[in-house]
Amino acid sequence: MTNDSAAEATRAVASLQGDGAPIVVSNRQPYSHEYEGGEVTVDRPAGGLTAALDPVLQTVNGTWVAWGSGDADRDASDNGVVAVPPDDPSYDLHRVWLDEEAVEGYYYGFSNQMLWPLCHTDTARASFSQDDWEQYRSVNAQFAEAATAAADQSSPVIWFQDYHLSLAPRIVRERLLPDAFCMHFWHLPWPGWDAFRVCPRAAAVLDGLLANDLLGFHTPEYCQHFFDCVERTLDAAVDRDTGTVRYRGGVTTVRPYRLGIDAAAQAKRARSSEAADFGSAFRETHGIHENTRLVLGVDRLDYTKGIERRLDAIERLLERSPEWRNRLTFVQKGAESRSSIPAYSRLQTRVEERVEEINDRFGTDDWQPVVYTTSMFSQEHLAGLYREADLALVTPIRDGMNLVSKEFVAAQVGDPGTLVLSEFAGAAEELGEGAELVNPYDVEAVADAVERGLRLPTKERQQRMQVAGTQVHGNDVYDWIADQFRTARSIQAGKRFPAQRSPQSQ
Ligand code: G6P
Repeated sequence: MTNDSAAEATRAVASLQGDGAPIVVSNRQPYSHEYEGGEVTVDRPAGGLTAALDPVLQTVNGTWVAWGSGDADRDASDNGVVAVPPDDPSYDLHRVWLDEEAVEGYYYGFSNQMLWPLCHTDTARASFSQDDWEQYRSVNAQFAEAATAAADQSSPVIWFQDYHLSLAPRIVRERLLPDAFCMHFWHLPWPGWDAFRVCPRAAAVLDGLLANDLLGFHTPEYCQHFFDCVERTLDAAVDRDTGTVRYRGGVTTVRPYRLGIDAAAQAKRARSSEAADFGSAFRETHGIHENTRLVLGVDRLDYTKGIERRLDAIERLLERSPEWRNRLTFVQKGAESRSSIPAYSRLQTRVEERVEEINDRFGTDDWQPVVYTTSMFSQEHLAGLYREADLALVTPIRDGMNLVSKEFVAAQVGDPGTLVLSEFAGAAEELGEGAELVNPYDVEAVADAVERGLRLPTKERQQRMQVAGTQVHGNDVYDWIADQFRTARSIQAGKRFPAQRSPQSQ
């Protein structure tokens, strides 16, 4: 715990103990064990969520249930349970074992080829198979059972994460622990009814989620879309004023909570000498002259991130404004993801091809317009790259929140750069005033925004970054956790002491 909001989050979590410390349930685990040259090593996934929840669970001695996806996970745990963090254990990680068929149907299938595209309103990419659905159902049951086994009391607090686990809350509530307090956070956008209705199992997904006492989305708009879908699909009573849904004898409170990052930790990383050294070393390694402006993109290689259109915008800029040739390098850092899904492997190939095309077209002996890397960087090194960049291009075609934009802002601890941000990222509502907002489909407008951003006078850059920084520091990941647990606490208090009807209302 490094700051006040971290301590506040820990207090809020601890105040909702149910009968024991909370159980976090997610597809990804906070630590994975892998074999490297015959030795077992511990990896930490790069995701912001696992990094933020981990210290909170350490303090309240909670429990985490997740898919044991590392190749040494079985050998490193005892009956599926391993105490973490490895060097100073304070909570238990319970691993769920999934066989190949289950991973194929549950993870690659229904989660990532139905719910993922659908929630990003990309209905053309959604595909469905009954086999995938069966696997999704049975893996959700496995997670529900694992959460139940991890609970040492009959009314634990169980906090589900994301779209992989939409059915698990109903299974817990009806078959396993009727008195559990179930909360769920959906990290994707929630789409409009017109998109969501494409899912042949839409009603079952909604039914599963409505077994939660509290359901969180990033923005008020996603909550409204969720209400629309419930109204059009189920026989449920939606009350938009109170943000609640009454359904099958239960009440679900639905609220927006904007996910943030550990902003203080990111700023600290950006100030480190490791970060500063990496920024200049990166230029040197890739032959980027110190006077060349550095434009940066950092993404998982996902079709929702708008990487191809972003490359189009860079190409357009170099084509129409030759004065930027030799004076600007676009660095795209990509992280390989979900590669066995054809849409993802095609994207990887396409990005490589486009980078080559642009470099062939404009590159010279001593200047490369695009540097593309899929190398893994430490958090300090990445912070150094953010700091070194004159401009970040964060242009997803749809994104639940987008934490890269926030990581970039928190890393601007010196002479600040400019953030060019898609208006279709959840973060746009918070960061709009401090960023250049763009429609990522409008290649010409993105090229304009890059030019404008690179020409902004220092004072204006500083003012904008201050506005953005206030948002990022003022709404960090610990606030996100604390807010949800405060709501949870008031729901729980209401459940234990049901409101008396006042004499006037009788
Ligand atoms: C998104 C999802 C997360 C997921 C992450 C990485 O941010 O909301 O749940 O963990 O992508 O994707 P992966 O499929 O590698 O877990």
